[in-house]
Amino acid sequence: MNKLLSPLSLGPYVLRNRVVMAPLTRTRAGERNVPREMNVEYYRRHASAGLIITEATPVSPYGLDLGPDRFRRLITGEMRLIAAGGYKPADAESLLERGDAEAVAFGRLFIANPDLPRRIALDAKLNVYDRSTFYTRETKGYTDYPSLEQQEAANRQSAVQEKEYVEVER
Ligand SMILES: Cc1cc2nc3c(=O)[nH]c(=O)nc-3n(C[C@H](O)[C@H](O)[C@H](O)COP(=O)(O)O)c2cc1C
Repeated sequence: MNKLLSPLSLGPYVLRNRVVMAPLTRTRAGERNVPREMNVEYYRRHASAGLIITEATPVSPYGLDLGPDRFRRLITGEMRLIAAGGYKPADAESLLERGDAEAVAFGRLFIANPDLPRRIALDAKLNVYDRSTFYTRETKGYTDYPSLEQQEAANRQSAVQEKEYVEVER
């Protein structure tokens, strides 16, 4: 996944990787759509993305139903193309290798994997997203998917408990 994890210059910025977070979960804002503490926590947990797009709308009607290869022809000069929609890390890597986009935005996979770039770097297993929690206003399915670190800590904890249990059994 060399390309996906390589930096990309975008205007005045240098993105540390090309794993972009798609705009998601707008429904989670609070009263009268004002962001709240839970939204801060969500973006904090996803901060390893090369770029986070918090909201978006199709750039033009021509943008609809065009694959990245066809969209490509409309992009000139310093413009960068970020592809999105149904990508898995391996497909995204091939797309970048073909030069059909400069970065890839992940949506559902990023919701469920707050540390997605790290998981891609380590070729680690991805958490499975829970569709039933997508358009709710709750923290469940928003800030409670575990990072690898949290999963490793939980595994260590259960290994310790297992050992204690075996020792008591003897
Ligand atoms: C649960 C969910 C919530 C979304 N919320 C928003 C949103 O608030 N604003 C927006 O512009 N797009 C939103 N989208 C559209 C995604 O940004 C877009 O479909 C993206 O390409 C999905 O990537 P994926 O196929 O990797 O999941 C949402 C998509 C999903 C699945």
